[in-house]
Amino acid sequence: MTDYAFVLGKNWLLSLAELVVCLQDRGIAEGVKDYSRTAVIVESDQKLSDEQLVDIQSALGGCFKVGRVVSVYDRTLIEEAFPAKGKVQKPARKMMQEVPWVKRVWPRPRGARIKFGVSTYPLLNRQTSVDLRKFTLAIDEWVKKRLVELGAKKAAYFAYDGPDRRDAKRVNVALWPQTIARRGLLSPPNAEILALLTEGALYFSKTVGVYDSQLQQFRDEARPYISAEISTSPKMCRTLLNLAGARPGDTVLDPFCGSGTLLMEAAMLGMKCRGIDINGEAAEGARANMKWLGSEMGEWIDFKIIKGDARKASALVGQQVDAVAFEPDLGPVYRETPSIEDARRSIEGLTVLYRDVLQDLESCLRPGGRVGMTVPVVNTINGQVSVDIDTMIQGTGFDIHKLLDGDAFEDYVPKNQRLKVKTDRTTLPERKRGQIVQRAVLMLGRV
Ligand SMILES: C[S@@+](CC[C@H](N)C(=O)[O-])C[C@H]1O[C@@H](n2cnc3c(N)ncnc32)[C@H](O)[C@@H]1O
Repeated sequence: MTDYAFVLGKNWLLSLAELVVCLQDRGIAEGVKDYSRTAVIVESDQKLSDEQLVDIQSALGGCFKVGRVVSVYDRTLIEEAFPAKGKVQKPARKMMQEVPWVKRVWPRPRGARIKFGVSTYPLLNRQTSVDLRKFTLAIDEWVKKRLVELGAKKAAYFAYDGPDRRDAKRVNVALWPQTIARRGLLSPPNAEILALLTEGALYFSKTVGVYDSQLQQFRDEARPYISAEISTSPKMCRTLLNLAGARPGDTVLDPFCGSGTLLMEAAMLGMKCRGIDINGEAAEGARANMKWLGSEMGEWIDFKIIKGDARKASALVGQQVDAVAFEPDLGPVYRETPSIEDARRSIEGLTVLYRDVLQDLESCLRPGGRVGMTVPVVNTINGQVSVDIDTMIQGTGFDIHKLLDGDAFEDYVPKNQRLKVKTDRTTLPERKRGQIVQRAVLMLGRV
């Protein structure tokens, strides 16, 4: 058995759900062995190559980093060695100081000039019983010392980055993916070490791949057609593609394609793309974006964008597709919080639209194929209004799938309430602070 570590995106539950689906689709995971709100440890009897791990990480919308576990300690040891309050236990600190796992990260350090960094990910984001800053800096120092003892010509580390500017209370003792790329920390003999804290353990892992934020920013900003109002984030697009079970070589349909963000992500992952949008300008823009992406990638992309109504998708596309992923029309862009009656009226209309589209999709999605989609959740002055999923799928030939499959979580049941995962959930929220229209994410399958 080998353990692999995945650092989760900001929406940890959605990231966890996406990861489990993605690994199950690839027949990889034996199960989730352990997790925190920032990282997951997956156990597998398959030996995955670096290339396979990087492929998985880059296909995921909610995974910042992937690594191989090189060592596991009991959590009490780190609590004794680096308590947030109270006395340091010397024997515990001495044990940690030995860093025997360094040899597993660097089997032959002799004569090498090594740059590295340690990124620590806590159990929860805000509170911890461990002094994470002291811990991270101590590991940095001890690894450096050990590397020199093992014959490295030079060893230098990059201490953790500053706090998250958008959320100052969030503990950050990790390196951002940009820093890792800029400093070349993934090119041997350089390395990044992940220190992942869970309820019961501390895992050290060697990073194999990180999220390429620069590439995504470039795609987002340099594409010829940008429509901020209707764009879905590229990360959300990848999550929807995974929930839909889309794989390289598959034909993916986005029946509400807008400017084509989701299809661009699909093309980057080697999928064939079919898109529909009722708005001629959006369809034209999506076409321009796909052509541009093809020339940037230096590859021919198999795509077709059609101006038309999603309710007639099968006739418009005229072929069977392997997966359907989309963020549909989410209703009006409210300038101020609406009344519950207004929101209900809009949601009822949208529910009929989504049901009509799903009814039509049944005839073009391959048997066993899945749909990954979002639906709006509107915050009104008197509470939230959302789509009734049972009404939406009634008579469509689609079933709702559970998002956090219980089988995947049999191995570990947390004690901490804030880590509990309800395995019967069929939707997961995706919200940004202050948003009037938020979203729920779901996965459907052909009956
Ligand atoms: C939320 S946007 C999709 C955004 C897209 N994922 C992107 O990133 O650009 C919804 C899109 O659905 C389109 N739309 C609305 N009703 C439609 C319908 N009945 N058929 C097809 N497209 C529709 C709108 O023109 C809009 O571009």
